[in-house]
Amino acid sequence: MCGIVGIVGNKEVAPFLLSALKRLEYRGYDSAGIAALNNGKIEYCRSKGKISALKDKVAQYPVAGTVGIAHTRWATHGVPSEANAHPQFSDTVALVHNGIIENYEALKAEFSAKGYNFTSETDTEVIVALITFNLKEGLKPKEAVYQSIQRLEGSFAIEVLFDGYPDMIIGARRGSPLAVGYGDDEMFIGSDALALAEFTTKISYLEDGDLVVLHKDKVEFFDEKGNPVQREIVANHASSFTIEKGEFRHFMIKEIFEQPKAIEDTFCSVYDKETGLINSANIPFDLTKVSRVAIIACGTSLHAAMVAKYWIETYAKVPVDIDSSSEFRYRNPVLDKDTLAVFVSQSGETADTLAALRYCKKHGIKTLGMVNVPASTIAREADCILQTMAGPEVSVAATKAFTTQLVLFAALALALAEKRETLPLPEIKKMAKMLLDIPSIMQDFLKETESIDKIAKDIVKDAVNALYIGRGSSYPIALEGALKLKETSYIHAEGYSAGEMKHGPIALVDQGLPIIVVAPFDKYFEKTFSNMQEIVARGGKVIFVSNKKGIAAAIKHITASIAMPDVNTFVAPILYSLPMQILAYYTALAKGTDMDQPRNLAKSVTVE
Ligand code: AGP
Repeated sequence: MCGIVGIVGNKEVAPFLLSALKRLEYRGYDSAGIAALNNGKIEYCRSKGKISALKDKVAQYPVAGTVGIAHTRWATHGVPSEANAHPQFSDTVALVHNGIIENYEALKAEFSAKGYNFTSETDTEVIVALITFNLKEGLKPKEAVYQSIQRLEGSFAIEVLFDGYPDMIIGARRGSPLAVGYGDDEMFIGSDALALAEFTTKISYLEDGDLVVLHKDKVEFFDEKGNPVQREIVANHASSFTIEKGEFRHFMIKEIFEQPKAIEDTFCSVYDKETGLINSANIPFDLTKVSRVAIIACGTSLHAAMVAKYWIETYAKVPVDIDSSSEFRYRNPVLDKDTLAVFVSQSGETADTLAALRYCKKHGIKTLGMVNVPASTIAREADCILQTMAGPEVSVAATKAFTTQLVLFAALALALAEKRETLPLPEIKKMAKMLLDIPSIMQDFLKETESIDKIAKDIVKDAVNALYIGRGSSYPIALEGALKLKETSYIHAEGYSAGEMKHGPIALVDQGLPIIVVAPFDKYFEKTFSNMQEIVARGGKVIFVSNKKGIAAAIKHITASIAMPDVNTFVAPILYSLPMQILAYYTALAKGTDMDQPRNLAKSVTVE
């Protein structure tokens, strides 16, 4: 989604703004722009398309000044175009915005009637109109912004430059995140820690409703009532991470290969070597009293939640509800005080998941955030967190975030099983050891990916549709495989539980349809095998994902296979995620799509 950054500095800001935008590219965008104050006068440059296009344009039409703001736009209102790109501006202000203004139509009508000339289709421009009018009414910049945001419904993080105020940026947030970075005689403001990482290691996060005034030598925060407040300065851990592709061609494949390390780091953060059990000290609730677990998430994180349901119900015997975040709070969920609500989000900023968290907190439910970004809003607002140690995930297609979420859920299931005494301790220790062994098994699997590349080129690349099927905990893995393929290669793909095939999807089977059958050699194997035969009998091309034994049994029926290591059913979903990701990657590569930044998608979905 939109990314924003601003600098009140002491040297020309344009090159720094452009390089910060580059770091924000991972969020997904379709246009970009910068503005700066040159001797107190606003100069700007905007462009449709990639940052490189903006860079070329700035080279042609330089934007001078030591104070500036910048933006990557992911279109919500109005097509991607130069006119709709940010900064949006008037004769007195330039403004960048992340979020959605829900009452923009009413405000646009109101200000059009007052004679304001709107030049874009964006919702953002109403904020410009509001501030411009308030300035004309004689309000000073801070008051003009404060009064303007009181009229806004929806979510926003904004940064504003003012004509005639050469040393100032005003920022404000509600719903969308915003952070301030402290430099030496310069200050920064941006959508997340990563945006500020190249500038500073000291940051403060704005609380919801905050307004901030930045000068190069001071920062003043005001809360939603307009009262001056202090916000804690914390270390920007994102500083230590580089977001380079290294030896890899794309972030997606780099992140796929980072999984052994990410999983090791994640599991070791909750594994107690002394006892061989899971350390659940981070969860300040009595796990014996949890009557139900409600897991709320979107997209890939939702698929991790679906696997967790199998684990927690099977091993810890606690009922689990799964909800898509965007549905959760609108369906009037019945929750009791002994429910533990878990919010899963790589970014920790997903608007629907955050809203679901706030809904639960309002209803007095215990909340646990499972996030990859420890400074994210979900991390800060949940009662407690479990952190996936995946490091920054840049590719829009989630990979290492998913498998590390699975590892934390597996650990949570074991912690619940121990506290509730639903499994004997030696069994729990044995299962914990299986999780400990995953990184090296993964490492070995990742050495041999050519056969998957060949399947992508020979079978999947030219398909118009693809189906993924699985049973038990392989069903969410099939869903995740389909999601990965569709988002990276634009091939229409659906995931089904294998048992559902006869209830409709089998009508789709013909010779052009690849069907990826996720079939670990477990208690479901025979049934999934029968479903596979039914598909083959109708001419479907089956790509069979199983261990050697499973493939040997299926070999005469199938078009291709992906051989998996022999692993216990418990950890199979974690390992079987790999071929799903790799097949999607190679298919996208063969098709030439931009799998790191697929069209229309954003890494961090900060609007509903
Ligand atoms: C997956 O590849 C997608 N990028 C998407 O489904 C993602 O998982 C979803 O938007 C949830 O994001 P979050 O984990 O940051 O909340």
